[in-house]
This record gives sequence, C-alpha cells and structure tokens, in this order.
Amino acid sequence: MKRVVILGSTGSIGRNALRVAAALPDRIRVVGLAAGRNAAAVLEQARRFGVRRVALLDAGSAALCRREAPEGMAVLEGAEGVAALAAEPAADLVLCAVVGLAGLRPVLAALESGKHVALATKEVLVGAGGIVMDAARRRGVRVLPVDSEHSAMLQCIDGACPGAGGDADGPVRRLILTASGGPFHGRPETDLDAVTVAQALDHPRWSMGPKVTVDSATLMNKGLELIEAHWLFGLPAERIDIVLHPESIVHSLVEFRDGNVLGQLSLPDMRYAIQYALTWPARVDGGLPGVDLTALGTLTFAPPDGVRFPALGLAREAARRGGTLPAVLNAANETAVQRFLEGTLRFADIWRTVERVMDGHTVVNAPDLDTILAADAWARRRAMEG
Ligand SMILES: NC(=O)c1ccc[n+]([C@@H]2O[C@H](COP(=O)([O-])OP(=O)(O)OC[C@H]3O[C@@H](n4cnc5c(N)ncnc54)[C@H](OP(=O)(O)O)[C@@H]3O)[C@@H](O)[C@H]2O)c1
Repeated sequence: MKRVVILGSTGSIGRNALRVAAALPDRIRVVGLAAGRNAAAVLEQARRFGVRRVALLDAGSAALCRREAPEGMAVLEGAEGVAALAAEPAADLVLCAVVGLAGLRPVLAALESGKHVALATKEVLVGAGGIVMDAARRRGVRVLPVDSEHSAMLQCIDGACPGAGGDADGPVRRLILTASGGPFHGRPETDLDAVTVAQALDHPRWSMGPKVTVDSATLMNKGLELIEAHWLFGLPAERIDIVLHPESIVHSLVEFRDGNVLGQLSLPDMRYAIQYALTWPARVDGGLPGVDLTALGTLTFAPPDGVRFPALGLAREAARRGGTLPAVLNAANETAVQRFLEGTLRFADIWRTVERVMDGHTVVNAPDLDTILAADAWARRRAMEG
C-alpha cells in the first residue's frame, strides 16, 4: 500500500491520478490533496477518498474550504501550506502535478523529507534539474516521471537494465522522444501569427490543462521534455532525438549501446504513465486496456520542423549552454504562454519572447537555488515587456 499526496489534484493530471487510485484501492491510499483555488473540488475529492489533510494556495479559497470542511480536516494555505503537505510524514510518495516552477518548493520539500516524487511538472526539472536530482540522490529517493514520454523511457530502461537509469556511461546510447506535433503539425497553411487561443487549445490527441496544451502547439513542450530527459537519465542533449509521431501510441524509445531499440506503446491516456509512477516498481492490473495493433493499422514517424517551430531550437540551445539559461527559457515561456492565454500576445510571439529574453541573459554557470530563482524572476519581468 502506497500512501500518496497529490499536488494539483483538481487539474487534468490530478483527476486522472485519482481515477488510478480509485481503480487500485488495495495499492494506493490518498493521504493529502492540494490545489490552487478550487476549494469545492478539493473538498469533494477529500470526502470521496477519506483524506484528512488538504492545502490551497489561495488564502481566500483556504478560508472557504475551512468553513465547509468536516470536523478534523486540516486545511493548510499558501505556498508554505502546499510545501508542508508535500513533507507530510504519513506519505510515501508525492505526485506533483501543479503547473510551472511553482512546483519546485514542494518537490524539494518532499525529497528532503525522504519521499519519492512522481513528477508531472516538467518545469521543475527544466528550471532546477541539478538541484532536484542532487536532493533525490542525497536522500536516496527517486524522481519518477509522469510525463508519458519519460515514463516510456524509464519503462524501457527498467525492463532492459534494471537500475541503469541516470547513468550516462551506462547501456543507453540514445533516447528517442516522440512528439504528437500538436494541432498545427502538417498544416503549413496555418498563419501562426493569427492562431487563436481556441485553436491552440484544440489538441488532436490529448486532453490536458491549458499551459501544457499551448506548449504542445508551439512544440516548446518537446523542448522542455528534452531538458527533462537530460536530467532524469543523465544523457547530454546531443544524445536525445525528437521524432514526430502524430498517433501518440509509441510514447518514446531507447536505443541501447548494442544498437537494439526498445519502445513503449499504449493508448494516449495519461493513466498508464501515472499508474506506473504510483505503483513503481510493481506492474499491476488497474483495468487499463492494451493496444490492438491491427485496429491501429499504421503508425507514422517524421522529423520535426524546427524552422516553423523555433521553440525546439531554443530549448536545445538552453540545454547545450546550461547554467541559468534553461530556467530563463522556462520562466519566459511560462509568462509568454500566460500572456497568450490572456490575449495580450500573439501565438508566434511566444517563442519570439523566449528568444528575446534568452538573448538578453548573462548565463551563470553551476547556479545555486537563489541564483536560479533570481534568474527566473528576472526572465518573468523581461517577458512582460513588449
Ligand atoms: N495534462 C496532461 O495530460 C499532462 C501531460 C504531461 C505532463 N503534464 C504536466 O503536468 C503538470 C500539470 O498539468 P495539468 O495539465 O494537469 O494542469 P492543470 O489541468 O492546469 O492543473 C493544474 C493543477 O495545479 C493546481 N495548482 C496550480 N498552481 C498551484 C500551486 N502553486 N500550488 C498547488 N496547486 C496548484 C491547480 O489548482 P486549481 O484547479 O485550483 O487552479 C490544478 O489542480 C504541468 O507541468 C504539465 O506540463 C500534464
């Protein structure tokens, strides 16, 4: 039985994680829930799963939650409250599914208190991968990917060479990260300057929260995932390839030193990756179906278009240069996506903004946490200009 805290329980990943928990009541017990401001949904989830500790980032929502909460339920508030819940002694594992670098503090709190972290929030590794992975190593705990691509890679490495993940000189020659391509892949007629919010949010394969859906449409999501893979598996960016695969059935592949390539297949449903992270290293039946290859027929693969979607190149450059640059890329992107969703920035200005902010940054090598947070704040301010 794993005792699990879910941060971001009211979002797309959070709700899917609760579906996984509901399907495996003998394996997973939810002991804490956190969200931003959706007090009503957190309360309903807490009642349904018998959870006694919850946290809300927004103080007003926490007050509302306290008024409605059943007797004996603890309602924490603010970023401190979310981090305190992540360090909850009664938990074995924390699933982080909040959006953006806001996940960093709770992830570090969970790792420092000796818990494994199932990580959906890729921005945490993009911004502060060295610090997060160091904390995990120091405490002897794991960062288990929830992103379907990284879950695929972990499953291939776990299966072929148990315990080899994270060793750059180990058995892995190359990682092959698959990408759906988002709504504008294969549509060269689309004027990317004129893309509306509704068009960007209309993903052909995945139903996800708004930030990651826009990232998928710009292909920045794949760039963030490249940096995420670098930190999770210890390979340099030059040994991580990106391949378009619109059907989203092969979630990623690993090429081993001997030239053999293993891939992981499943339907495009986040519950496969979430369940693997929550039950790791066990494989159990949570009611999810397998893949019918004859029904699928054809699977296609193609190189990404780095000219039309420059975000990929920006992320590669940030990965290659390292230091504070990935944190700057991430912060500028978070801000630009938010501005696009609010209607104050055009779609193609998302990557133009990221490029402008990266160009104006003086990189600091081997940054500590304060330096990363300062670079993050600087990049957010710069991305608000123009
Ligand atoms: N969705 C997917 O299928 C998918 C796939 C791969 C990776 N990811 C990654 O997973 C993360 C979550 O994505 P999502 O699509 O699930 O996002 P989402 O649907 O927008 O949900 C975000 C969740 O985080 C909560 N939240 C936001 N800021 C918070 C904070 N500072 N403290 C505590 N809770 C906070 C929100 O609460 P409220 O509801 O109260 O606002 C909500 O529960 C992202 O990093 C994304 O890139 C998602």
